[in-house]
Amino acid sequence: MGVGVLGTGHYIPSNVVTNKDLEKRVDTSDEWIRTRTGIEERRIAEDDMDTSDMAFHAAVHALEDANVKAEDIDLILVATVTPDTPFPSVSCMLQDRLGAVKAAAMDVSAACAGFMYGMITAKQFIETKVYKHVLVVGTEKLSKITDWSDRNTCVLFGDGAGAAVMGEVPEGKGILSFELGANGAGGEHLYQDVDSGHLQMNGREVFKFAVRQMPESSVKVIEEAGCKREDVDYLIPHQANIRIMEAAREKLGISEDRMATSIKRYGNNSSASIPMALSESVQNGKIKDNDLVVLVGFGAGLTWGAIALRW
Ligand code: ACO
Repeated sequence: MGVGVLGTGHYIPSNVVTNKDLEKRVDTSDEWIRTRTGIEERRIAEDDMDTSDMAFHAAVHALEDANVKAEDIDLILVATVTPDTPFPSVSCMLQDRLGAVKAAAMDVSAACAGFMYGMITAKQFIETKVYKHVLVVGTEKLSKITDWSDRNTCVLFGDGAGAAVMGEVPEGKGILSFELGANGAGGEHLYQDVDSGHLQMNGREVFKFAVRQMPESSVKVIEEAGCKREDVDYLIPHQANIRIMEAAREKLGISEDRMATSIKRYGNNSSASIPMALSESVQNGKIKDNDLVVLVGFGAGLTWGAIALRW
């Protein structure tokens, strides 16, 4: 038996904020944002749409897609750095709203690698047959911790949610290999300031870390899965900066059309980036049965995670 994804879903807020809109707020330009980051626009959730609301919409779609009922979910794992409140957790809010009456629930804090950490935690419970169905969600309302007067950060982020229902899949399918990692010594490069509540970032340091870590972790999981770089059908990197993503893609020798680039439309959605891109890629037929898919993320902590997955 393998452990894999039974269904996916995502929620994208309808409110579009373009680079031109941001030119009116801070000293920046559409050209700078496009060339330095690859971002063309992002979605910002309305005031009455919090992190748990987006998680709910993504989760409902994932449950439908997996054909699994909420009452059959055993565990809910929500990856987020922007919970509605520190407690109760977003996962508990979601458990109540979905009516997932028998599910245990907890949030996972690993920033942009959070969905990877959630998927691998789910894998352990399913593999050991403790649980049958685990709902993993990545959801972020980054707009509420963004300093909208700081051009270094406000152009980068957006809101959204993605979800996956995980369970048993046939042998040879599902998660083939993974790597999770952390380096707490790099925590100072990306954090939420306790006084202002705003996200603070040393962009250059995060950039250097990501350019090194993404290809390294990707190669590791591909090899551990017994595969070669050229076997990869689709790459879903964390959507933080197109230049970081391109560097990873080129090192892996993967063609442009085989990498998810939702960053153009949504910006960086932290823990929601990878599940949003995964769900969209499945929906639009980019990921097909039996494809070798690599998911790779990095983020605050510093944390990172990579998964090689047979779809
Ligand atoms: N518009 C115009 N100019 C800007 C803007 C902007 N929005 N932002 C910064 N600049 C300026 C800077 O002030 C600097 O000016 P200076 O030379 O006069 O000081 C100049 O542009 C160049 O700045 P750099 O920092 O060298 O620009 P760089 O090419 O490194 O790009 C960026 C900056 C996009 C932030 C990049 O470093 C990056 O993407 N880093 C990684 C960030 C990341 O991945 N973060 C997410 C982690 S995931 C998570 O956990 C949330």
